[in-house]
Amino acid sequence: MRIAMIGTGYVGLVSGACFSEFGVDVVCVDKDASKIDRLLDGIMPIFEPGLEDLVAKNVKTGNLTFTTDLVPAVKSADAVFIAVGTPTRRGDGHADLTYVYAAAREIAQALDGYTVIVTKSTVPVGTGVEVEKIIREANPEADFDVVSNPEFLREGAAINDFMRPDRVVIGTSSERAQEVMKQVYRPLYLIETPILFTKRVTAELTKYAGNTFLATKITFINEIADLCEKVGADVQDVARGIGLDGRIGGKFLHAGPGYGGSCFPKDTLALVHTARDVGSPLCIIEAVVDVNDRRKKSMAGRVIDACGGSLEGKTVAVLGVTFKPNTDDMRDSPSLDIIPTLQQNGATVRAYDPEGMAEARDLLPDVQWCDDAYQPMHGADVLVIITEWNSFRALDLERIKSLLKTPILVDLRNIYIPEEMRQAGFDYHSIGRPTA
Ligand SMILES: NC(=O)c1ccc[n+]([C@@H]2O[C@H](COP(=O)([O-])OP(=O)(O)OC[C@H]3O[C@@H](n4cnc5c(N)ncnc54)[C@H](O)[C@@H]3O)[C@@H](O)[C@H]2O)c1
Repeated sequence: MRIAMIGTGYVGLVSGACFSEFGVDVVCVDKDASKIDRLLDGIMPIFEPGLEDLVAKNVKTGNLTFTTDLVPAVKSADAVFIAVGTPTRRGDGHADLTYVYAAAREIAQALDGYTVIVTKSTVPVGTGVEVEKIIREANPEADFDVVSNPEFLREGAAINDFMRPDRVVIGTSSERAQEVMKQVYRPLYLIETPILFTKRVTAELTKYAGNTFLATKITFINEIADLCEKVGADVQDVARGIGLDGRIGGKFLHAGPGYGGSCFPKDTLALVHTARDVGSPLCIIEAVVDVNDRRKKSMAGRVIDACGGSLEGKTVAVLGVTFKPNTDDMRDSPSLDIIPTLQQNGATVRAYDPEGMAEARDLLPDVQWCDDAYQPMHGADVLVIITEWNSFRALDLERIKSLLKTPILVDLRNIYIPEEMRQAGFDYHSIGRPTA
């Protein structure tokens, strides 16, 4: 079994490495020559725990190779996965399918013998039909099927998610394609992973329905947190109290600064537009998008309030800028809303992130980047935690107090306990947790 993975980003590289670990012969292709050069030198273009070792191991066995040359990779493949980006299209909120369609055209020219073309990118309902049309028009003789196989991995836990997924969804009505996909995912069959075969359009929608549901859950608990602040309740206890109900479940009930990242913001927006286009608007998701946007924008206000209403001439120490821990991904991170607003309000911002600073530098100009978690705090007026990296969970509180000008901590991830912080002498501000 040979696979070509078109697009070697967060999804393509992890999926390619994991398939190669399954024993499949994988060629990862990317247009970005510098990315491929780095991979050929054993340098990972992204931070993902465990990835470097997995890649090195499978490169060594010869199961995993990298190239910029799509044609030979596709020619010899039984299945070609499209794992290119589908960002938000400028101006209208739809998913931008330019990269997917361009990849389809390139693949079409290179097909040789029966090939299954698999969209792993998150693509709106109906994209499979369009990809099929593009390939058919570009190469009328080609023998192929187009399958939808959305990816559910999470950055930061991507390898485990891929190797031991809750389920695999495969959308196709072709028996021939089903057989190839069963071969590709054989190791997961053997460990009895639920593998759902659906219509292609159903698989496409399943991915969006999953992401928008999770975004809704986060947004729900964020609004409950705001209500907790008004009535003196504790959102952590509310989340636990409802999360223990098996019908609800405890995951994705952590109140915070609003969801970000490479998927939820663009996928919620894209589904809203798909639904409007077909005359079946999703009022809940429209509200989720709106509430989350407003929430991210409002977070800087919490810092301003904690500092007595003004940041003019003040220094803010920030811990964490990535959209979540264990990734260097900055796409749509809440920090991109929060930090510029702090600066516009007259603050000097000093920040530290364990893995995200290289990505963040260009996106967050005028931030003073620091070498460790304590360095931003020297003489700062307030400390703000934006991302809940484990290394921020057990900081030396006495040291923080000695470094800060005033011991104000705005913890947008609730990683500290309000009562303990109060006893330690902090003016502590959480999300939805009373201090007294
Ligand atoms: N990042 C995630 O956590 C995640 C999870 C599930 C699904 N997804 C979906 O997977 C898709 C890919 O996301 P990502 O985060 O990996 O994107 P990414 O931007 O990290 O990677 C995409 C890669 O594709 C390459 N590329 C674009 N056009 C190409 C072409 N014609 N030939 C070869 N390479 C090409 C780019 O150079 C880039 O390296 C998106 O649709 C996304 O929604 C992402």
